[in-house]
Amino acid sequence: MAEDLTIATGTKEEQYILLTKQIEALISGEEDTIANLANIAAALKEQFKFWWVGFYLVKQDQLVLGPFQGPVACTRIAYGRGVCGTAWKEQQTLIVEDVDQFPGHIACSSLSKSEIVVPLLLDNKCVAILDVDSEHLNHFDQVDGKYLEKIMNLLKTSFS
Ligand code: SME
Repeated sequence: MAEDLTIATGTKEEQYILLTKQIEALISGEEDTIANLANIAAALKEQFKFWWVGFYLVKQDQLVLGPFQGPVACTRIAYGRGVCGTAWKEQQTLIVEDVDQFPGHIACSSLSKSEIVVPLLLDNKCVAILDVDSEHLNHFDQVDGKYLEKIMNLLKTSFS
């Protein structure tokens, strides 16, 4: 496995296509969940320079902070709370253009302005979420949603 990431150029979609292929190669053959989450967080940060990118893992009735890249963050989020807890509850990707307009948003960093959260579902149960924050308003769109969901799907075998 190559441990070097080739930084893609081109449109956002082109960047995601190359990145997704590299992530697939990076985690194939590695069954350790934390190792794979850690490398995915690093790869997304390296490619897109997101303000914060990381995972929360479902543990009983809470989300608990997992591997991430960026400033320190809140360690536990209750079911249905904040953007992350809401994506867990609704079992769907949430794109928030302006976090200040999202009722109950949890501000781990006051510099975060927009956010996307993608849940990973196994047998209809959420086992983890990916959270990406931007310091720019309205940073995320359906392209981010489409490819971040593909990347989350690559993790299914790490969780089963
Ligand atoms: N903003 C999130 C909390 C997690 S941090 O952004 C890393 C939320 O509202 O759930």
